[in-house]
Amino acid sequence: MEEKRKVIFSGIKPSGDLTLGNYLGAIKNWVKLQEEYECYFCVVDLHAITVQQKPADLRKRTLEILAIYIASGIIPEKNTMFIQSHVPAHSECSWLLTCNSYMGELSRMTQYKDKAKKSGDSISAGLFNYPVLMAADILLYQSDVVPVGIDQVQHLELARDIGERFNKTYSPTFKIPEAYVPKAGAKIMDLQNPEKKMSKSEENPNCYILIMDPPDVIRKKISRAVTDSIGEVRYSDEQPGVKNLMTILGAIKNMTMEEIEEKYKGQGYAQFKKDVGEAIVEELEPVQTKVKELLENKKELEEIYTKGAEKARYVANKTLSKMKRKIGFIQM
Ligand code: TRP
Repeated sequence: MEEKRKVIFSGIKPSGDLTLGNYLGAIKNWVKLQEEYECYFCVVDLHAITVQQKPADLRKRTLEILAIYIASGIIPEKNTMFIQSHVPAHSECSWLLTCNSYMGELSRMTQYKDKAKKSGDSISAGLFNYPVLMAADILLYQSDVVPVGIDQVQHLELARDIGERFNKTYSPTFKIPEAYVPKAGAKIMDLQNPEKKMSKSEENPNCYILIMDPPDVIRKKISRAVTDSIGEVRYSDEQPGVKNLMTILGAIKNMTMEEIEEKYKGQGYAQFKKDVGEAIVEELEPVQTKVKELLENKKELEEIYTKGAEKARYVANKTLSKMKRKIGFIQM
């Protein structure tokens, strides 16, 4: 009999166009993880609406992200790929967990605090509850491992706390998941302000590279990336711009930082930057072509998300009915 594989859950929210950071930090790692784990890869549209989205944009991005998953090499037959809102159990579970979460712990989430500082009183209650919905995503599938960026580790800790609390209050119901922060390409930084994480919410588009940026735009953005006046390709905290470009190159070409230092010794930055730009183009061009193909004729995508939702619903509903029974709801 086939040994039961460990379960992975991860997701990206369709609140903006995906960047090279999403690609190298998340998706490229998922492609590797699918070999070993039973994977659920979700487009978390319920999370996206914690800030207002234009309906047409949300629709477009949700499908585009799914297409990017597939075009990047996540194999539909091997994994469960689905759209969060197609599985109502996420919303239901989120409420049940909300009633087992504390205002105090949610108020301590740094992402919420940052956003609250900017928005004041008009911050949506959805943003406050965001980590509970994320806990629901993860716990419903009895996930063992959750690949996330460093900025999400606190949310994952909370998911563990909420899951453990439910297990203790009622009886063992959830598997308690581990966070997994991939090393290679874990954090791609802003090309203009390399102390900050690369983000599509930056005003200046030279700060980020989008997965769907045309090749010439990619080359230009890399040639404009901030470096320094030291003039040596070295992996050092004093050279955050160069360090970031090295991280990008290393993640794409599977090179270590030492190998990159060696290759560009005594050469300044011109060739190095050119190579980084070319490496990104080479990596993303085939992905872009495939994404466009998938979006042109949506039938294949429809089949994939329909099948994905069926499988996800089946698994999620099992956990959800367990929860309901334990809580004391009458079951039909
Ligand atoms: N909050 C995550 C982010 O912003 C996205 C997300 C939602 C997620 N649910 C998840 C990630 C479950 C991992 C597992 O990146």
